[in-house]
Amino acid sequence: MADRYLTFTGTAPGRFLSRRLGLPRPAPLKRRSPGRPTPPGDTLLRTAGKSDLDLADTALGLDLKAAAEKPAAVLLDATGVRDVETLAEVHAALHPVVRSVADSGRVVVLGAPLDPADHHQAAVQQALEGFTRSLGKEIGRGRTVNLVRLTEARAAASTLRFLLSPKSAYVSGQVIEVGTEQVTAPEDPDLPLAGRTALVTGAARGIGEAVAETLAADGAHVVVLDVPQAEPEARRLAERLGGTALALDITAHDAGERIAATLPGGLDVLVHNAGITRDRRLVNMPAERWSSVLEVNLASVLRTTDALLTNGVLRRGGRIVATASIAGLAGNAGQTNYAASKAGVVGLVRSLAPRALAEHGVTVNAVAPGFIETKMTAAVPLLIREAGRRMNSLAQGGLPVDVAETTAWLADPGSGAVNGQVVRVCGQSLLGA
Ligand code: NAI
Repeated sequence: MADRYLTFTGTAPGRFLSRRLGLPRPAPLKRRSPGRPTPPGDTLLRTAGKSDLDLADTALGLDLKAAAEKPAAVLLDATGVRDVETLAEVHAALHPVVRSVADSGRVVVLGAPLDPADHHQAAVQQALEGFTRSLGKEIGRGRTVNLVRLTEARAAASTLRFLLSPKSAYVSGQVIEVGTEQVTAPEDPDLPLAGRTALVTGAARGIGEAVAETLAADGAHVVVLDVPQAEPEARRLAERLGGTALALDITAHDAGERIAATLPGGLDVLVHNAGITRDRRLVNMPAERWSSVLEVNLASVLRTTDALLTNGVLRRGGRIVATASIAGLAGNAGQTNYAASKAGVVGLVRSLAPRALAEHGVTVNAVAPGFIETKMTAAVPLLIREAGRRMNSLAQGGLPVDVAETTAWLADPGSGAVNGQVVRVCGQSLLGA
């Protein structure tokens, strides 16, 4: 369902009324479009404290400028901030330039991991989180602010390119930790998934369809998995993307084996997207509503993950991206079953990530969508829908492609140092923030 309010506030009377009445004024977000450079303008580099990062390294693929009149993005390197005095350099670096950042522009703050042996460093590095989240809430005009903790620039190259680009249009207020694993950058940055096979569950429609499209646009051969009832849609999509359709209920106990049988060449990217809701308050919830949600959203994710890791179908260098939800982080009335299942996904990611990387060379991360414009959210009653749409820093819902772009970044061969992260795609929703 179209966001009519967003369209209205783009008109002259809409702008006037929303300003006069103090109503939210969402800005249309700029997203990736073919042929547009990423980022679509200058990225300004600023530094606070003394940094050891080599951001000028050409292998990063970032074209950083020391000065820019109307930057599309600002990258603030604050990794060297170790005390409160130097923290003032964060203010000094951004205060003069924030206003000039273009509409739908990006601010990315770089921080260091917290030093357990130095509570002054830990205090001011943690301070960067409060700073980032607050700037995200006040910056407006479709602009986003995120924090990346890192120790080494090359390992974070894919993450920086994503966060500085229009691909991260609906990702704001996030803190992402990047490890120190050696990463191999894809040969062709425009087709990072060339030669790779990706399987997306629940891909016949909604967010899963957008994920399949985006991974295919990035060069992957995509297996479009959905329930047998959705086979015609899955087939049509697979044909359009030059992929393969797989009619399979993911809750089938032999789902892992059936997937393995259709993928003799192995799998590089596994996206657990299939999900259902069966909302009721706990007092009115029959056991069947509880178990069906837990079965699709969590049990089948655990089972297929285990099967595809242990039978070696997921190759080294592989990527698992699971779909959580902000309801799993914040809780939501009427969704004890759904929120339990999505919080379970977060637990799975955090526990499995280090082991999967050490033992199988596979990263495990989650996306946690907020309010995304799909058939699922179009069915939500009007007032609750409007609240969901507006209660975030961008004052609008996200699109399926926003979740898809985030998934594609986590699936990138160059994202091998991003592991165990839960990245919200929620426009910095107030829920559970
Ligand atoms: P949707 O209902 O439009 O699509 C879900 C797809 O999964 C459908 O094609 C369905 O047939 C398939 N599916 C369901 N059960 C299956 C099973 N047992 N085996 C195989 N396929 C199955 O949902 P939407 O909105 O696209 O959501 C996708 C994911 O994102 C879900 O995990 C959902 O929980 C999550 N999410 C969505 C949000 C939103 O605002 N739309 C917000 C937060 C999370």
